[in-house]
Amino acid sequence: MTENLPKARPDLLTPGPAAYARGAEALAAGDLVSFPTETVYGLGGDAGNDKAVAAIFAAKGRPSFNPLIVHVLGEEQAESFAAFDDRARRLAELFWPGPLTLVLPRKPNAPLSLLVSAGLDTVAVRAPVHPVARALLQASGRPIAAPSANVSGHVSPTAPIHVAEEFPDGGGGRLKLILAGGKCPIGVESTVLDLTGEQPVLLRPGSVTREELEAVLGPVALAGADAGVKAPGMLSSHYAPNLPVRLDATSVGADEALLAFGPDQFTRGGHERLNLSPTGDLHEAAANLFAMLRALDKPCCKAIAVMPIPEQGLGVAINDRLRRAAAPR
Ligand code: TXA
Ligand code: MG
Repeated sequence: MTENLPKARPDLLTPGPAAYARGAEALAAGDLVSFPTETVYGLGGDAGNDKAVAAIFAAKGRPSFNPLIVHVLGEEQAESFAAFDDRARRLAELFWPGPLTLVLPRKPNAPLSLLVSAGLDTVAVRAPVHPVARALLQASGRPIAAPSANVSGHVSPTAPIHVAEEFPDGGGGRLKLILAGGKCPIGVESTVLDLTGEQPVLLRPGSVTREELEAVLGPVALAGADAGVKAPGMLSSHYAPNLPVRLDATSVGADEALLAFGPDQFTRGGHERLNLSPTGDLHEAAANLFAMLRALDKPCCKAIAVMPIPEQGLGVAINDRLRRAAAPR
């Protein structure tokens, strides 16, 4: 961006009526506000304001061909810009508010920035269930475009301190406040489902599972070569810590950090050790995933070794994020 804004640390505010009013004011002025959702922290801007949406891309250093999710209170607000069919209505009824993002046709003349869709004729929309996200949506009365509040390619933030660390200068000056609403309960980003074609396509696994979607819709395809969908979020290296990540570790070196899951039986190695869930609970593991990757990402170690995670339920989403963290950069 060519503007020269004062680069200042964003304010961390405790959620409450005064904080929501300031958040709404900042959004109305075209500035950015970070807020917690049930999945991860978002970097929010008014989805109808081109300057605000451009500021999101600039703050993240995000390639602008990667479109953003528009957050709403519910289906009624979403209907003003997205075309719902029967499938979309059923899913919204069953899973909203909650961690399911629907990619739908964008209505002609939708009152949204074109940049939100990165030039596509579709739009991704979700209604978060987190009370702080909902209070901000209420206070602003506007749909809020919000990617995860991290620099593009970094690990997603699940606590306010992560957001502050990602944007020490306020993301170029536009990020004015962080609504500090504690730790995100789910911890991995929403499930993204493309409903713009006849065949529903799962673009990103999340805590709403493929099985749950198939119970409502019938067969759901996986994004990939065969689905014919180029999901922009599928850039393979993503969610990457600085250290290399080694998956399915059955041993750990003395110079490695260990990210364990379930009973940690390694008696040797593991310069630093954290356990996603000693009891092997996938929900607990998802909630800890990004914070523990950040905590282990220290120069004292050569790599992060990760124990195997079962590929079921939320484990599918956890393994998806881990594979991207381990992908060649
Ligand atoms: O849980 C979440 O979804 C979080 C919180 C803040 O709501 N947001 C989030 O946003 O993860 P972001 O921007 O980091 O991820 C959005 C994903 C990307 O993979 C993007 O490519 C995909 O959704 N997406 C957005 N709009 C799309 C569209 N029109 N067509 C296909 N994919 C789209
Ligand atoms: Mg992201």
